[in-house]
Amino acid sequence: MRVLGIESSCDETAIALVRGADDSITVETNLVSSQIDIHRAFGGVVPEVAARRHVDVIFPMLTEAGVPHDGVGIDAVAVTAGPGLIAALRVGVELAKALAWAWRKPLVAANHLEGHLYSTWVRLEGDEGSEGMPEFPALALLVSGGHTELILMRGHGDYAPLGATRDDAAGEAFDKVAKQLGLPYPGGPEVSRAAREGKPDAIAFPRPMMDSGDLDFSFSGLKTAVAVYRAEHPETPIADVCASFEQAAVDVLVGKTLAAAARVHPASVILCGGVSANMRLRETLAASVAAHVPDATFHAPAPAFTGDNAAMIAAAGYFRVRAVGRRLTGGAGHLADPLTLRADPNLPLA
Ligand code: KG4
Ligand code: ZN
Repeated sequence: MRVLGIESSCDETAIALVRGADDSITVETNLVSSQIDIHRAFGGVVPEVAARRHVDVIFPMLTEAGVPHDGVGIDAVAVTAGPGLIAALRVGVELAKALAWAWRKPLVAANHLEGHLYSTWVRLEGDEGSEGMPEFPALALLVSGGHTELILMRGHGDYAPLGATRDDAAGEAFDKVAKQLGLPYPGGPEVSRAAREGKPDAIAFPRPMMDSGDLDFSFSGLKTAVAVYRAEHPETPIADVCASFEQAAVDVLVGKTLAAAARVHPASVILCGGVSANMRLRETLAASVAAHVPDATFHAPAPAFTGDNAAMIAAAGYFRVRAVGRRLTGGAGHLADPLTLRADPNLPLA
């Protein structure tokens, strides 16, 4: 099955063509147009500016991706319907509706978080991956600029949220700490680069909610602790501040994931979302899963699919269409109506 994926929920416009077969997804084309340079001047994403930029680039990207104007050879269209910035989401959703309607092809309204989960099923052509596909039940730590969530995936399309951040997302904390330290936007990669030169035990930052007994997170206090420390100790090298902050964030993320694993006994553990590009987090979680959840395999997306992309949305679309097609009673519940679908900035995962 060949699926066109469309993503425009935030500041990346993305178009992808993937092939789904059995339980894996191979990427044919994966185009991402980032607006980071445009939003950097504002220190963050400006929704109206993002939406206008999506409109400018999305049609040329369809052409660049080689999407045929008559849809021949494409079996389904999948689009991010939420959560995200409403004006930005609408650009992708209205395009997907028009294409699916004109081509008479199934339309999938994918959840952006669902897309990040499916990024671990995505492979580039020729890349077999070493660890195979995640098995169910899969426990996912989803860490991005807008979300920090622990999600139990019981099967394809079957999600149970276990915990989430009560304030800032992990990526947001990285971005805000970078801003405090005068590093450019987006700050996550900058902080992790600076951290490589620093000592992770230089400063004892708090590990918020580490022993709260639930599976929720809080990162706003940690961000404030960095600001207070910085004001009181301007002489401390930025690298030490970055490394110590990063270690505190990683300790909490890994600690909570292990606590969740002890409850749900997963067959696999998934790390996904933009912050999954962070090497300290990846390596620490992989080693911790091997040591403490030895029956589970560990999966993280290939570097090209950690941030926002449309291959992961097309992957979610493939598994949705496959599930609906197999259901004997039919029911359009899981496919979207191209005439009535609306983007939803707060679209729930389950
Ligand atoms: O998934 P994503 O591309 O967009 C959202 O859905 O939010 O995640 C973007 C977030 C940003 O906050 C960015 O700073 C963070 O991921 N990020 C990182 C790293 N690379 C990206 N955070 C920490 N370390 C990194 N290496
Ligand atoms: Zn994302």
